[in-house]
Amino acid sequence: MRHAAITGWGKCLPPAVLTNADLATFLDTNDDWIVSRTGIRERRVSHVRLEALALVAASRALAAAGLEPGAVELIVFGTCSFDDQVPNQASGLQHRLGATRAASMDVNTACTSFLYALSTANAMIRSGVVRNALVVGGELITQLMDWDNRNVSVLFGDGCAALVLEATDREEGLLGERLGCDAEGRSSLVIQGMGSRYADFERRYGATDWVFEGQEIFKRAVMGMSQASAEVLSSQGLSADDIDLVVPHQANLRIIEAVAKRAGVPMERVFVNVQRYGNMSSATVPVALVEALEEGRVKPHARILLPAFGAGLTWCAHLIRWGERVTPLGHSDAELPPCDRTALELVTALRQRRIR
Ligand code: UT7
Repeated sequence: MRHAAITGWGKCLPPAVLTNADLATFLDTNDDWIVSRTGIRERRVSHVRLEALALVAASRALAAAGLEPGAVELIVFGTCSFDDQVPNQASGLQHRLGATRAASMDVNTACTSFLYALSTANAMIRSGVVRNALVVGGELITQLMDWDNRNVSVLFGDGCAALVLEATDREEGLLGERLGCDAEGRSSLVIQGMGSRYADFERRYGATDWVFEGQEIFKRAVMGMSQASAEVLSSQGLSADDIDLVVPHQANLRIIEAVAKRAGVPMERVFVNVQRYGNMSSATVPVALVEALEEGRVKPHARILLPAFGAGLTWCAHLIRWGERVTPLGHSDAELPPCDRTALELVTALRQRRIR
């Protein structure tokens, strides 16, 4: 039977680091509150557009797979903070990479967008529509942030990562998945100001207000991720003991701990980087997976569980069987242009743009 092996991986994090102390210079918040409630210590703020982050992440992933851009047959880009709504983000990446043969589509399910994109690409490879795919999760959430709202602005950051999938007869890649949506909880996370209903020009597109019921999302996230994880394991006849590593969506350390506890997986087998980046929405899981590889946490043939949730409220859990190779075949020299401002200076400019 045909499968879709993961053969390449790459990430791109913008260099400017915004600390909890930086946030406390303009918000009524402090490091203690943020660390104890969320586990987050810092996050990144991009000085370039999403297309620039994606170009670097994708170039690194393709080099790791040893695949030329011209051979890519499909790009699926998971994001909800695209540079342009039309044309889509994936076509911009196709153009910048020179991946001229690639069908190019975006997927938006908020924070789970990368994983829904992974399901889409996997299905298209396994059904024979394409032989390979570049799957990207990237977000420039800081551009759309309601910076003076401490309920949300301490939680998020920017980033991007990509995986390359290639058809194989070996039983590896995405072996099981469970996807769903708890639409009853839809109103608990709404970013007002980002859709055609706001095109009455009373407000500038992107000047957002976040409706965010943290505790409600928290409860539903734990439920959705736990149920999806249990279902995907049982569909494969596996138990928690068979899982080598959990790489969950990283919105809040307490959510990760609650999901791990319910799944019966000790925290030593859970990869956590929320302290460094906060919630990067769709970029979160792929960046964490790339870092788990870089840190030697992914062993050949490892079984990896990826539970996630996002606005909608979308939820999912994916089960991956890694292949033999855990090191990249090659390295790309793609880099971001240098950043000459601090993260706080970048955020101050974003706040001033909004106030005007
Ligand atoms: O990918 C989807 C993204 N969404 C999420 O991941 C959200 C999931 N929810 C959460 O992570 C948590 O609910 C939060 C981190 C958002 C909040 O933690 P909490 O333990 O649920 O706190 P809370 O909402 O109950 O707020 C406790 C207090 C409140 O003050 P009062 O009413 O008790 O006086 C808040 O106003 O903390 C206050 N507060 C803050 N204080 C300092 C809220 N935000 C802050 C802040 N700094 N940044």
